[in-house]
Amino acid sequence: MRIVHAASEVVGFAKTGGLADVAGSLPRALARRGHDCAVVLPLYRSVRHGKQPIAPTEHVLSIPVGNRYVPGRLWRSQLPDSNVPVWLIEQSEYFERDDPAQGRSFYQFSMASGQKLDYPDNCERFVFFSRAVLEALRLLDWWPDVLHSHDWQTALTPVYLQEVYRHHPNIILRQRYEQIRSVFTIHNIAYQGLFRAADLMLTGLDWRLFNHRQLEFYGQLNFLKSGIVFADRITTVSPRYAEEIQTPYFGNGLQGVLSERRDRLSGIVNGVDYDAWNPATDSLLAANYDDETVAVGKAACKAALQKRYGLPEEPRTPILGMVARLVEQKGLDLTVKAADALLNLGAASGNQAPWHVQLIVLGEGDPVYHRMLQELRERYPDRIGLTLGFDETLAHQIEAGADIFLMPSLFEPSGLNQLYSLKYGTVPVVRACGGLYDTIADCTPEALARGEATGFRFVAYTSAALLVAVQRALELYRQRPDQWLQLMRNGMRKDWSWNRSAGEYEQVYQAVVRAEA
Ligand code: ADP
Ligand code: GLC
Repeated sequence: MRIVHAASEVVGFAKTGGLADVAGSLPRALARRGHDCAVVLPLYRSVRHGKQPIAPTEHVLSIPVGNRYVPGRLWRSQLPDSNVPVWLIEQSEYFERDDPAQGRSFYQFSMASGQKLDYPDNCERFVFFSRAVLEALRLLDWWPDVLHSHDWQTALTPVYLQEVYRHHPNIILRQRYEQIRSVFTIHNIAYQGLFRAADLMLTGLDWRLFNHRQLEFYGQLNFLKSGIVFADRITTVSPRYAEEIQTPYFGNGLQGVLSERRDRLSGIVNGVDYDAWNPATDSLLAANYDDETVAVGKAACKAALQKRYGLPEEPRTPILGMVARLVEQKGLDLTVKAADALLNLGAASGNQAPWHVQLIVLGEGDPVYHRMLQELRERYPDRIGLTLGFDETLAHQIEAGADIFLMPSLFEPSGLNQLYSLKYGTVPVVRACGGLYDTIADCTPEALARGEATGFRFVAYTSAALLVAVQRALELYRQRPDQWLQLMRNGMRKDWSWNRSAGEYEQVYQAVVRAEA
């Protein structure tokens, strides 16, 4: 099959979170399974100055946005180590403003106070991008069976396909567009792309669509909802999350529309790119190791990490690691609230000699969490390592050097870090929701005996429940090193490769290609 992916992030080019990992890895995995894939991405500043070579093409765009035509150009690159083309949409005013040093990301900028705000023209930026994706197909004369779009930034593509391009005045082109089926993936329902009603003018879409069963959401224009309503098939990034988002607690107001379309909704857990995330070959680590050599290898990575942060280099001091966007979703309030008790778990261990716990956090996001974590580090300078920023090398080193990986998420559509952690022998402690529920098997004595346990789960979103889970983990870590080793190995031997997930996407594509639009 021929599949084009439209996304606002692709790893190797532009990344803020897991979406980039998916948009970079899934097309490659599909290509390895024999499909013809391409990816479309905005040409951001970081792409222009990034490591991947890019080249201009002769194809120019002119995209209607509101009452004007906005020019653009197609550039070309490739996913690293593959033949998968990446088509870059150049529109420098919209897309080349990102600059981490100035606090400007792909979607937001920072105020002097540190507060982050969405760019005021996000609506028109991603209207432009979504239409440009459909125009690019015509310019390239590259007609896919499936147009697979990701998250709110590209959620209007199924709407344009249905409302505009399947009615193209040119009959040949109309037939081409009519053949394309749309698949839309929700990576995170908390980000919907909500804009003022008047912004509908920017889309060029008919006001008839602005009703509560289609594009409208409590008086506003909602991109994500539009994608959900118009796509031929909807997927999200775990089976559990597919269920959760049909309930008021997780649905963020879209539970109704999702329940109505549940016959077209499915959940597929993300995979891991083991070319990039494998401790046996990872060139960013102090030592390489596999499931046989993990004890020695991890000890070396752990010592290097302690040294990097100036923490006491004690081999038996457990390190809790965290790598996350610092936003409400990631359970930072729980972590900070539990921190005093957590860091002192070893102080109250009865007649044993007291021991310590170290915590290492890498992340970037909401200034509230930056301050909370900084304050914590000031109180425990010899137990906490903190990096506020985006650092891919460090992300790998923390995965390898930590003993335990914390993901106490309020919600977690799929999560990739727990899967990286499994491969790196870093035992995840997770809140049992979304993809964390689907991928981590709790370490009960029975599950451990059966060789199935891979981590520790808790249910209630409270710091007390988090603490109990960490306590359970540390008891095993301290008292039963043999069982701990077994637990690490169970996780390391699991196969969460993209090939498995790509096979599931293939089934979705096959079903939608067979079905009538
Ligand atoms: P989400 O997509 O919600 O951020 P995931 O677990 O799916 O969560 O993916 C997060 C991805 O982003 C992982 O690849 C993780 O290593 C990476 N990441 C998050 N924050 C940082 C950071 N500050 N520095 C480097 N990598 C980060
Ligand atoms: C979102 C989710 C995360 C998921 C990622 C990629 O950012 O928060 O759970 O893994 O998308 O699908």
